[in-house]
Amino acid sequence: MSSISDHNPIHAMKVPIIDLSHLSRQDFYEKSLVIKEIHEACQNSGVFHVINHGIPKSVIDEALEVNQKFFDLPGIMKEEILELGSRDPFSPVKLARFQHSALGSDLLQRDVLRLQAYPFEDFVDLWPKHPADYREKMGRYTAEIKKLAIQVFVAIMESLNLDATYLKENFEKGMQLVATNSYPSKSISDIKIGTPPHTDFGIITILVQTAPGLQVMDSLDGTWKDAPKLEGSLQVFVGDLLEVLSNGMYKSVMHQVIVPSTNKTRMSIASFHSFEFDEIVEPAKKLVDEEGVKRYRGCSSKELLKLIFSRALDRPIDALQI
Ligand code: OGA
Ligand code: NI
Repeated sequence: MSSISDHNPIHAMKVPIIDLSHLSRQDFYEKSLVIKEIHEACQNSGVFHVINHGIPKSVIDEALEVNQKFFDLPGIMKEEILELGSRDPFSPVKLARFQHSALGSDLLQRDVLRLQAYPFEDFVDLWPKHPADYREKMGRYTAEIKKLAIQVFVAIMESLNLDATYLKENFEKGMQLVATNSYPSKSISDIKIGTPPHTDFGIITILVQTAPGLQVMDSLDGTWKDAPKLEGSLQVFVGDLLEVLSNGMYKSVMHQVIVPSTNKTRMSIASFHSFEFDEIVEPAKKLVDEEGVKRYRGCSSKELLKLIFSRALDRPIDALQI
């Protein structure tokens, strides 16, 4: 795996910062500047910060806290969840300890609680019962993030020169899969704490984290760069299915997490957004016509997740290239 050979990042990545308050302005010129910034961010980095996103700090902090409390529960209280998702990778709620090899022979470990979050009513009864305010606080957070994701999706469609309404309804009723990652502070023997290199499957991911550790592959020189955390911002990642939809104009970004062993527990919440599970995503016809070549075959979230879970390829999306 050449992509992970250089794991001593020396540089921090300049992750673009997009001020979302400009999007809602009536001023056409101001809005078009932000759309242009989003275009460049998606094309050049595949990841960007959003600030002035309108989600109250308390909603974000409480979601992180309640997840921390969930992971701190004694094992017996988490068992109901463990039981639920033990076998089926597509279970709507799943708690798992992942250990994947990366960085040569090292093992990277993290705990993940994965929840389907949209429509809320369909899934909330399966979410953890403990802590008692888990459902309320995560319900509030996931609803706010879904609204933000729709706003960002529309802006991304415009940044591709597509209609603001292009696939908007499909995205609105589409899936929201939320992964809460817990990176415990202590490394066990030679196991390191982190997430191996990967791209995210969906259209976009919205991420919040409590501590540094995230690294992003710089597509220009193929090296890992630290992606610093910015207080109050959320990070948006281009996912595999956006790469398909944009006919390769935007590429899903490789990222990984390496948690320094001195850190206290690091938490993150990744919210993956896409269309409905079985819906086939195709490159937008307008972009294919403009370029005169269709670069990817259509693929659903379900099919792509199967490819990802099989862990047969570094970049599962390569299997979709024509
Ligand atoms: C993920 C992910 C990053 C992090 O869950 O897909 O990339 O900071 N998480 O935990
Ligand atoms: Ni990821």
